[in-house]
Amino acid sequence: MSCFTIVGGQRLSGVIAASGSKNAALPIMAASILASRPVELRRVPQVADVQTLGMVLNDLGLTTSWSGDVLRLETADATPIRARYRLVRRMRAGFCVLGPLLAKRGSAIVPLPGGCNIGDRPVDLHLKGLAALGADLRLDRGYVVARARRLVGATIDLSGPRGPTVTGTANILSAAVLARGNTLIRGAAREPEIVDLGHFLIALGARIDGLGTSTIEVAGVEQLGGANHRVIADRIEAATLLLAAAISGGEAVVTGVVADHLTAVLDKLADIGARIEFAADRISLLAEQPPRPVDIVAEPYPGIPTDLQAQWTALMTLANGRSTVEDSVFPSRFQHVAELNRMGARIECARGVATIDGAGQLCGARVTASDLRASAALVLAGLAAKGETMVHRVGHLDRGYERLDLKLRGLGARMCRHNLQDHP
Ligand code: EPU
Repeated sequence: MSCFTIVGGQRLSGVIAASGSKNAALPIMAASILASRPVELRRVPQVADVQTLGMVLNDLGLTTSWSGDVLRLETADATPIRARYRLVRRMRAGFCVLGPLLAKRGSAIVPLPGGCNIGDRPVDLHLKGLAALGADLRLDRGYVVARARRLVGATIDLSGPRGPTVTGTANILSAAVLARGNTLIRGAAREPEIVDLGHFLIALGARIDGLGTSTIEVAGVEQLGGANHRVIADRIEAATLLLAAAISGGEAVVTGVVADHLTAVLDKLADIGARIEFAADRISLLAEQPPRPVDIVAEPYPGIPTDLQAQWTALMTLANGRSTVEDSVFPSRFQHVAELNRMGARIECARGVATIDGAGQLCGARVTASDLRASAALVLAGLAAKGETMVHRVGHLDRGYERLDLKLRGLGARMCRHNLQDHP
């Protein structure tokens, strides 16, 4: 795996374009199994998870070809139904092929996604929803083996103990569009990525109402066609770039982003004292002073995303005072805390809440990334730290950020990528 060295203390400044959303692109790619004609997806981020899902889809008989950021998918062989463990275990979004395979091909064999560095991530709600649509499901040596002659519409409640499930909603929605009759999904995820998936399915010919609310209605159709769809901008990447500017005491304009997708985050950024301005498709941030301590609770949309809590924690280490960061979606997602403390932060973590005593200053250190967003938090900390920070295992970062190092360098960061053998 590669690592980054970052020389902290540079004030970031500049304009940068947001990439397409990984978490929208992945379920949309999986739903392309449903299409009877070619699919063209624009603004697909070139990140490792997208490449991995491309390989899963190749195994399932789809051809994939790239032209710039346009990904073309077409079913060449509609008979394979088995997704490989070696690929799905790398990335939980691989499980999103289950619903589309069942709906389109009548059967599926998909590995249960394993444990993960951000905590317990069951798929019981995915399975409950598919069973309600009439699928016959059993577990066989770590694989979900699913069959259904034709799915039948049903009323399904997807709300779980920690709120709605995002990829669970994607799986059930993608299955229901070809079911016989109507499906009502209650407790559906309201995330913009699910809305984007819904728009893609509608472009294929699906009939869906209620996107963006917690009740989605689907009227099943016999067949879907093809589509040409532009993936939404990555709100998590956009906010990570804004937080990078904030932690450096600098400024940035992120373009191509939907400011409405980040309302809760922008409000909190204003609370820390940053000057925020936005238009429909761009957000600018100017940080003139060190951040004020501001508490956050990560929640399902429209709350602060759990995918930003690690980066926020990094920012709060510079605040002048105490703040708390709670993650109600993944209460164990705090692996970055020990690494931030190695850089001089003072963070204590208990029962899903990190308490941060802002130290005003971090110092460079060698740290190791444990997952995608933790990697981003360590990079942000490195931008602010005194001296040199080396972030190991940035392969985690490459799973979901498109060329983040180059984007940050474009804003003035001093950082470079090395192969591990250069820095044993
Ligand atoms: N949950 C259940 N049962 C289920 C599914 C989920 O109890 O069957 C629980 C989870 O344990 C968690 C909560 O419900 O406590 C929400 O999990 P969710 O299913 O929504 O997570 P996910 O769909 O597996 C997606 C994103 C994650 C993001 C979460 C929350 C994708 C590919 N992944 O995961 O993104 O953190 O939603 O917003 O869309 C990332 O990009 O770094 C990332 C981890």
